[in-house]
Amino acid sequence: MFTERIYNFSAGPSMLPLPVLERAAAEMTNYAGSGMSVMEMSHRSKAYKDVFDGTKALMREILSVPESHEILFMQGGATGQFAAVAMNLMGRTGKADYAVTGNFSGLAAREAGKYGEVRVACDTSDKNHTYIPRQEALKLSPDASYLHYCANNTIYGTEWDYVPRADCPVVADMSSNILSKPVDVAAHGVIYAGVQKNMAPAGMAAVIVDRRLLGREMPVTPTILSYRTMAEKDSMYNTPPTYNIYMLGLVLQWVKEMGGLRGMEELREERAGLLYDFLDSSALFTGCAERGSRSKMNVTFRTGDADLDAKFVKEAAARGLVSLGGHRIVGGMRASIYNAMPVEGVRKLVAFMQEFELDHK
Ligand SMILES: Cc1ncc(COP(=O)(O)O)c(C=O)c1O
Repeated sequence: MFTERIYNFSAGPSMLPLPVLERAAAEMTNYAGSGMSVMEMSHRSKAYKDVFDGTKALMREILSVPESHEILFMQGGATGQFAAVAMNLMGRTGKADYAVTGNFSGLAAREAGKYGEVRVACDTSDKNHTYIPRQEALKLSPDASYLHYCANNTIYGTEWDYVPRADCPVVADMSSNILSKPVDVAAHGVIYAGVQKNMAPAGMAAVIVDRRLLGREMPVTPTILSYRTMAEKDSMYNTPPTYNIYMLGLVLQWVKEMGGLRGMEELREERAGLLYDFLDSSALFTGCAERGSRSKMNVTFRTGDADLDAKFVKEAAARGLVSLGGHRIVGGMRASIYNAMPVEGVRKLVAFMQEFELDHK
């Protein structure tokens, strides 16, 4: 049992900034003199409309979303978007290119295959998804309706350091690195993210879509997955995930106070730098991803001995450094160091890794 907050390296749901949790707690039973919790408000009420509009405006401001793009809040998480992207965009030519650089981009491609022809623009499974291909290596089809890529591979610990170019709209799954650095929104037709890592509690996807792409959905598209309907109804075709949107608003305010995306980027460089510098000097631990492709959100590493890995994860947890086990499909260790992870948490982790290494020479 812990009596204080601990450092939670979970891949998602993951840490939320403490000031956000404290504010939500303070406002829990009586939000802004309304006499009720945000959870209890009608989504059509004036009080809630202010929450909703404020969150959306702040998201536009912080991510520099141009007026050409609409912001939507949808249910079904990022996995819902695997289907939504295909149903909304694939109808144009019936084909789409997918860059497969890990588990989730593979799942997205498989889902899209239900609605049209998926072409594999790259498949990094040849080296166990330890790298991101360069632009020149992508096999792009001239008749693709869009190119889909996953900007950060949560499980394998790799991250694109560029936005791939194509002659068709580019679609990004940014679930695990959105809000961690500036992003060129205009270079994308669609950006989507399950919110449970850098944005809010689990239960929603944030979607940014180029308005020119609205209205291309296949006739069978469920209404709640239609980008056009959601844009026309301002994400309120049905009851939206009201509390998630409120929490996202609080997180965005925190991001703004911390210096916006530049501030987040400085912190992510610092956290990731501490861990990778140590990994590069360690004789016991090895980073899994290739150097040029390393994720600054999910750092994957191992000792090469599964029993020792398990011992490390267990002993770390006893010290309040929890959820360091790698995803079950890859094993080893993974430190997810999203926006809300204090630099101090990473320092403590590195100190423990040093100690563990000395004990296991
Ligand atoms: C990059 C990425 N895409 C998609 C998903 C699936 O998200 P959800 O659980 O919101 O459907 C995850 C979940 O961890 C993820 O990391």
